[in-house]
Amino acid sequence: MWQPKPGSDGSYPVDKAKAISGEKLLRNIMSENKIELYAAYGKVMNCGGGGSCGTCIVEIVDGKDLLNERTNTELRYLKKKPESWRLACQTIVGNKENSGKVVVQRLPQWKK
Ligand code: FES
Repeated sequence: MWQPKPGSDGSYPVDKAKAISGEKLLRNIMSENKIELYAAYGKVMNCGGGGSCGTCIVEIVDGKDLLNERTNTELRYLKKKPESWRLACQTIVGNKENSGKVVVQRLPQWKK
């Protein structure tokens, strides 16, 4: 099963997704940037962005000011998780006034 491997400096690879202003789902931005969102299991089992599988977890490394508040769905799935974790299909990036760069760590649940 695919999982992130630490680089030579021991840190995990971080992917950058640039959000242009306008409300866009983080899930869509990641797929437009060809950033793989799911591990092998989630690739097959994901709910297609419906907020019912909980497999699209990402960690927001930078740019959280650009995001919407956690939705009720996220509150359910991420209750005991760090605040920086989001479900990509529930996360809206940017609004009419602001845009910028969001840096995401994929699959934070694999990190030890
Ligand atoms: S894709 Fe299923 S909860 Fe996000």
